[in-house]
Amino acid sequence: MKLDHALKTQKLFNRSRSVGINPNHWYPVAWADRLKPRRIERTTLWQQHIALYRDADGTAHALEDACLHKGVALHKGEVVDGCVVCPYHGWRYDGQGRCVSIPYYPEQKKLPSARVRSYPVHERYNLIWVFPGDPDLAEASPVPEIAEYGDPNWLIVEVPARFPAHFCVVNENPLDVFHGYLHRDLPGWYDPVLVGLERDGRTIKAEYDVTFRNGWLARLFGLAGDTGKETRRKIVVGYHYPHCRNTMPGKSNYYFMRQPVGPTETQSYGFLCLQIRLPQWLVRRIRKPLSRILWRFLVKPFLVQDIEMMESEQQTYLRDPERRNVEINPVISAAQRLTVEQYDLHLVPTTGGPSYGDA
Ligand code: FES
Ligand SMILES: [Fe+2]
Repeated sequence: MKLDHALKTQKLFNRSRSVGINPNHWYPVAWADRLKPRRIERTTLWQQHIALYRDADGTAHALEDACLHKGVALHKGEVVDGCVVCPYHGWRYDGQGRCVSIPYYPEQKKLPSARVRSYPVHERYNLIWVFPGDPDLAEASPVPEIAEYGDPNWLIVEVPARFPAHFCVVNENPLDVFHGYLHRDLPGWYDPVLVGLERDGRTIKAEYDVTFRNGWLARLFGLAGDTGKETRRKIVVGYHYPHCRNTMPGKSNYYFMRQPVGPTETQSYGFLCLQIRLPQWLVRRIRKPLSRILWRFLVKPFLVQDIEMMESEQQTYLRDPERRNVEINPVISAAQRLTVEQYDLHLVPTTGGPSYGDA
């Protein structure tokens, strides 16, 4: 590796752990079924506190979690007639953040016209999504697609997770299939070989060949070949900024929808979509308990190991943000470049931002 090239990738590596989000995308901020009528829930998206609630029709709204008057957190208040009422002096806000009443304000006087910030909201895949950027760009920007959602031929396991790390650290985890080493004692893949890498706009796609043992688990998920002790398969990993997806063509899709909470914290909403080799009538009947069992015995052991690694990586970065690391997987360097570019794109929309060279 040449020196200037090494320096560029080093700069990229360190910077990717400190950049903010490009706000002009949709981000999940809560499970929709946990947002109950008449409740106000606080969530945090890249250090912005947001109050979520449902109006009288059940439509979800997202407001900056701070009253216009003195900044008291609105999630401490209550929902009355589809509006949020601040607990301190009773100022009342509608779903667009307009102040619609102040209990002690003279009737003949016009109410303050300033608004609490409101965010565009979508409710999809049992998630509440918000668009924290320019609201005029929200409708033209699609919410990420989960094609299998609602399709009875797929079993979907919801995988919530909280990672004590920057979202770039978190997203690199599923993109770096070589970390199967960490899971070597679990029934996962081994012998990964990177066979392809391409980038198109804000999407990176990489292909790895991996090997599975032909055990009962591999057979249940259709991963095992008909003969022999092991089967070679392809894993396609994608970084569709700011979210990720791992695919085993025709077998499974694993979506990782990310909520960057702050520089050292990321909430993840995973959707593991599986085609299971059991009769569909049986899968339909046992869908819920089966999901729970898969989460407990198939997903959680991997997650626990991953979280420990990401936390350790993050802590080392915090102790020494200029530390020199050595990255040899071009997929990870590409992901870091995309993360940094998306941030710069938001900051410098007309110039395209600085260049960080090739990986
Ligand atoms: S701080 Fe909210 S009404 Fe006064
Ligand atoms: Fe992992």
